[in-house]
Amino acid sequence: NNNTLKHLQPFPPLKNDNLLRAARGEVVDRVPVWVMRQAGRYLPEFQELRKQHDFFTVCRTPELACEVTMQPLRRFDLDASIIFSDILVIPQALGLTVEMHAGVGPVLPQPICTPEDLKRLTPDGALSRLTYVGDAITMMRHKLDGRVPLIGFTGAPWTLMGYMIEGGGSKTMSKAKAWLTNYPEDTKLFLNLLTDVIVDYLEMQVTAGAQMLQVFESSAEHLSKEEFLLWSAPYLRRIRDDLVDRLTKKVIPAVPLIIFAKGAGHSLKEQSELGYDVIGLDWTVDPVEARAVVGPNITLQGNLDPQSMYCEPNELRSLATEMVHKFGKSRYIANLGHGITPQTPITSMEVLVEAVHNAL
Ligand code: CP3
Repeated sequence: NNNTLKHLQPFPPLKNDNLLRAARGEVVDRVPVWVMRQAGRYLPEFQELRKQHDFFTVCRTPELACEVTMQPLRRFDLDASIIFSDILVIPQALGLTVEMHAGVGPVLPQPICTPEDLKRLTPDGALSRLTYVGDAITMMRHKLDGRVPLIGFTGAPWTLMGYMIEGGGSKTMSKAKAWLTNYPEDTKLFLNLLTDVIVDYLEMQVTAGAQMLQVFESSAEHLSKEEFLLWSAPYLRRIRDDLVDRLTKKVIPAVPLIIFAKGAGHSLKEQSELGYDVIGLDWTVDPVEARAVVGPNITLQGNLDPQSMYCEPNELRSLATEMVHKFGKSRYIANLGHGITPQTPITSMEVLVEAVHNAL
């Protein structure tokens, strides 16, 4: 089968493994840095390619996905690459239409409105509709030629459920939140269905060559602490536990896992007990306080405010340096506290990367 064939072709050896070392708590030569959405609209070459190709065509065409993944690495001395895709490829594989509308974001014209609508989802064979992501990952490992590790990713169950019910982004996620009170049992079915697909999907990404995985629970910000512990954390835990079981049974080496639950700084202790190697922090969390809460055995990632990228270079340099000083050199991966925004000046990326590397 396809996955066996992939392993007959060994990947080039890794030249810069600082990201993986940081995730495992080993000594690093320099603090590793990458940026969420590092391939994106702030790059003119990305905009140029997007004029020719629809967003999901880029995701579905390994050559195009690899080209876009490579774009930030040509410009900046980054310590990681992240495969170009989107969290909404899972809803697509489950049978929902997802469109990317310029200036609006994702639109799902036939959202899941009631528990009855869950019957429209097609979990059987969902993984077979996601093989293009594995193909892009395998191709990218060869194109990277070992320069930096390749990160794979997925949306987390609550975040995906939110988009699938709201039919796109939402300021409040109020329809999805109504499910939590109106249909708690169906919510559990929905979240478990998504968790099963996510575990298959992450296993496939590791088999294809992903060297680290990030789980994006971006919509955790809409949940209270109590809701986060009920509707997010248990599924995040199962993703990790089931994935580790799967990989162990198939004798596939495990890769470090990152959990990024945006807005869940209220539950860092609980996050540290989910079995993930790395916790991603948004910019509302203080680095020193976060370290005190999670203890010494977890790697922290983050957390510069994406808005800081609009500061003058000197100001940005001192903000980035101060951040690295607060986190320290051990068990730390520098990043923004959320995705880089489209208007960010390119020079800010240069300043950020250089400041992180020179801070300690
Ligand atoms: O980080 C990377 O460089 C890898 C690529 C990546 C994209 N989306 C490409 C993208 C990753 C990791 C994502 C994850 C993602 N997608 C998340 C979680 C991270 C987060 O930001 O919270 C979410 C919630 C989505 C869903 C999504 N996709 C939204 C809400 C939007 C619209 C908002 C926006 O920034 O435009 C997208 C579109 C999207 N995904 C773009 C890119 C580069 C821009 C759209 C375009 O090119 O037209």
